[in-house]
Amino acid sequence: MSTTHFGFESVDEREKASRVRGVFDSVASRYDLMNDLMSAGLHRAWKAYTVMVANVRPGMAVLDIAGGTGDLALAFAPKVGPTGVVVHTDINAAMLGQGRNRLLDAGVVLPTLVCDAESLPFPDAHFDVVTVAFGLRNMTHKDKALAEMNRVIKPGGKLLVLEFSKVAKPLEKIYEVLPRLGKAVAGDDASYRYLAESIRMHPDQQTLKTLMQQGGFGHVDYHNLTGGMVALHVAIKC
Ligand SMILES: C[S@@+](CC[C@H](N)C(=O)[O-])C[C@H]1O[C@@H](n2cnc3c(N)ncnc32)[C@H](O)[C@@H]1O
Repeated sequence: MSTTHFGFESVDEREKASRVRGVFDSVASRYDLMNDLMSAGLHRAWKAYTVMVANVRPGMAVLDIAGGTGDLALAFAPKVGPTGVVVHTDINAAMLGQGRNRLLDAGVVLPTLVCDAESLPFPDAHFDVVTVAFGLRNMTHKDKALAEMNRVIKPGGKLLVLEFSKVAKPLEKIYEVLPRLGKAVAGDDASYRYLAESIRMHPDQQTLKTLMQQGGFGHVDYHNLTGGMVALHVAIKC
């Protein structure tokens, strides 16, 4: 039996995906509100920076993995224009459903698909840009997911991974607040304890860079945001 992390807990690999699904089923309807509260709105700036670095242009094919409630898909849709496409995906139907409703309310219609990042249902070399925001740390086999991302990107295309990372020491205490905030606002301290613990268990900036290089990306760089609380890793398929 192989084990992996679910927050600070050690669990059977086969159990992790269903536990993660439980967390996101539970938070889906309040996800956007909690995201704003927990990050004091900063997630909007982190995502805006990601969109800027992605430099998506008309006609491009973009894949957003673990797209959840659709912030990135919504930002990319007007940039690709009528000749391009943004595919909005997530493993969790409840999160994706929230996202699809938001996109439709904004008058944006695009392909929405439930799929696992570790086994992407797309042909090789299909997308110009692939993004994953705050999703990688929830995946059981990050190496497998990164290899899949590499496979579906065109040569010269870009992967952007936005994720919590190794924060500067004085800011570390912030993660102790999350479960209390989750309990007060969403009545769900267990899910937010998992979020805080999974952030701390996620590979630091350099380790993730190495993982991405091992996943086949020729050039990988990262940008620390908000004292390293979050990092944007940008990889090119060379
Ligand atoms: C914290 S949310 C991020 C949502 C959105 N990208 C954002 O930044 O607001 C993490 C998402 O990762 C998704 N996820 C977890 N494991 C996944 C996997 N193996 N494949 C695809 N999505 C996954 C979850 O269902 C959840 O919607």
